[in-house]
Amino acid sequence: MGLQKKTVKDIDVSGKKVLVRCDFNVPLDQGRITDDRRITEALPTIKYLIQNGATVILASHLGRPKGVTPEFSLAPVAVRLAELLGQPVPLLPDCVGEAVKAAVDASKPGDVLLLENVRFHPEEEKNVPEFAAQLATLAEIYVNDAFGTAHRAHASTEGVAHTLPGVSGFLIEKEINYLGQAVENPKRPFVAIMGGSKVKDKIALIDNMLPKVDRLLIGGGMVFTFFKALGYEIGKSLLDETSLEYAAKLLAEHPDKIVLPTDIVVASELTDTAETQTVGVDAIPANLIGADIGPASQALFREVILGAGTALWNGPMGVFEKKPFEAGTKAVAIALAESHALTIVGGGDSAAAVEKFGVADKMSHVSTGGGASLEFLEGKELPGIAALQDKP
Ligand code: 3PG
Repeated sequence: MGLQKKTVKDIDVSGKKVLVRCDFNVPLDQGRITDDRRITEALPTIKYLIQNGATVILASHLGRPKGVTPEFSLAPVAVRLAELLGQPVPLLPDCVGEAVKAAVDASKPGDVLLLENVRFHPEEEKNVPEFAAQLATLAEIYVNDAFGTAHRAHASTEGVAHTLPGVSGFLIEKEINYLGQAVENPKRPFVAIMGGSKVKDKIALIDNMLPKVDRLLIGGGMVFTFFKALGYEIGKSLLDETSLEYAAKLLAEHPDKIVLPTDIVVASELTDTAETQTVGVDAIPANLIGADIGPASQALFREVILGAGTALWNGPMGVFEKKPFEAGTKAVAIALAESHALTIVGGGDSAAAVEKFGVADKMSHVSTGGGASLEFLEGKELPGIAALQDKP
């Protein structure tokens, strides 16, 4: 089931002032944007609004500032947007207040303005109705295209839709269509690949996805809790003690679906120069740390992925930021790139991994949401989407 909400195409935006919430929370290194995907993915909606005669007032958060902090200014985003759009994108000094209102009032159809970081006001995250109402005075229509922040019920993602007619942008529509298809109507076999450090962070995801998938491949730090549940020595590997019972139950109830690694890369330290060895999963030395899936597991996972009709990936297979432990995550990324499956990467670390290994553009869809895609795949309602107008 696709998005059941109105989009920008369902309303007349011509001559209207449109407040567009984007997720421009991009990674920065000393003021330089290191990955602008969240900006480029917002362009279709922005361009559509420009071409259809709207005045575009963009809003976003950046980071988690406590009050007004210059390093969390959206200034680098304004510069990048202006380059990509080929027109000026002035950054206003704030997101509410008289100066902002005056600048918005003076703008014309086709103009694009960027409001300063909405999280400079604590009322944003508290979803204070008066603050949302102030934002609403800037426009006649509200468009939410901030998929990455749709799991937050904040003033600019949810509150403002109580005052202004709210519709979805194309990015949210695309995300829901891909992620929704994976969940509701997958081409089979449907294979999910899960990693990451703690089982307990993935319980809701596993519980929602397991009935829908044909195979669940498990790697990453969380796999050691499963090995412990099987009674194996896991050395100094990550253990999520509170999830041991859950892991044991899962293995007992779904032996047909769950695929665990067969070998593990171990080391005494998780550094770029660590000496590694590969051992069987039941032979992890007591003094070592498991930090990646081994070559036999990579081949096994690859075979399952190549046979998939739909493959959904959430979470790395090992400590892929460090060279000695990147092979498992890389193998999954490459297998996904080479498979004929509909391949969906569920944001966050896995999105960073396909980027790092140069295969992001080989995926059917790489989500711009970390927490948001996780919550969607857990079956939760995303408040930023729920608040928008339903399709008739
Ligand atoms: C993200 O990067 O996941 C989103 O921009 C949301 O950010 P937050 O976790 O600070 O709300």
